[in-house]
Amino acid sequence: MSAYAGVLERYKPFLKIPAHTRTVTLLEGNTPLIPVPQLAEELGGGFELYIKFEGMNPTGSFKDRGMTVAISEAYGGGAKSVICASTGNTAASAAAYAARAGMRSIVIIPAGKVATGKLAGAVAYGAEVIQIDGSFDDALNLVVAISEKYPIALVNSLNPYRLEGQKTAAFEIVDSLGESPDWLALPVGNAGNISAYWMGFTELHARENMALPQILGVQAAGAAPLVLGHPVEHPETVATAIRIGKPARGEQALTAAEESHGRIIAVSDDEILAMQKRLAANGIWVEPASAAGVAGLAHELREGKINLKGKKVAAVCTGHGMKDPDIITREMKKPTILPAEMNALEDFLAREGK
Ligand code: F0G
Repeated sequence: MSAYAGVLERYKPFLKIPAHTRTVTLLEGNTPLIPVPQLAEELGGGFELYIKFEGMNPTGSFKDRGMTVAISEAYGGGAKSVICASTGNTAASAAAYAARAGMRSIVIIPAGKVATGKLAGAVAYGAEVIQIDGSFDDALNLVVAISEKYPIALVNSLNPYRLEGQKTAAFEIVDSLGESPDWLALPVGNAGNISAYWMGFTELHARENMALPQILGVQAAGAAPLVLGHPVEHPETVATAIRIGKPARGEQALTAAEESHGRIIAVSDDEILAMQKRLAANGIWVEPASAAGVAGLAHELREGKINLKGKKVAAVCTGHGMKDPDIITREMKKPTILPAEMNALEDFLAREGK
């Protein structure tokens, strides 16, 4: 296999893609599965915990896995423009891959609810960014309608090729562990990713008789339609990536949870932010939404609803912390200001060391 292969080339025999597909890649995927024994201990111990750190993809989120396939299909099929609704990461990813293919990208985002690093990314990669005075769900309705009327390729996860790409993360986890994890925990927003992972694991099961993991999908309490059982009109959460009230693949997500003998739960913003800090204390800085999966595990352990003794657990951290610096800088202790003098530094170290 060439060193220049992304997920499309690496997993081609296992992807259901049309023959006209022409690879557009940034060598996404192959992200680390990082053991976090200290965090597992803090959560009660007795199990192995691994973080699939998807923030290590080229544009800083897991979206790149799906986007390489969706854009490659659209490009090979002759599309000149792509469009998506986004809470930010999809926008940045679509913009980057479209740029690489020389295509026009149009992204529609909810005004004021997209983290700085994502918006900056979309702009840097050359997207035409449209903010609407509405939610992600409103934006998704718009892009679906426009892509039905005009020759513009829709690259949200309603596009089946997005899921084909994203399922490769399940293959990688199994490759790294040498087997399936017992549990897989991940955040759920528009529900494309949980659906893709379940596709990946069930295909491995059919192909290689690989065991199936139980899936723990985690929503934010203020945006938890799949837990409540109905759409949420005005979703609200600090985890803006998953601030979604009507997930496009909601039914599929519920099926994945049920078939895997897992479930979809909700955690509070405080639990999400606390887990973001704990992950950072293990050297893994993720954006708030990305901490939701591990926060969900902690929640279930605390409430005695899950028994992980002797188990292998993988949690997906979907996006990098650098996507959303504001959440940190808003609350952080201001850096100390000192004169540029040795004495001042020595005094400071002596003072702070006590
Ligand atoms: N984590 C992050 C960092 C995300 O950006 C998203 C979704 C999710 C989790 C949830 O994944 O939607 O497949 O259930 N972000 C989309 C976007 C909605 O527009 O970037 P999902």
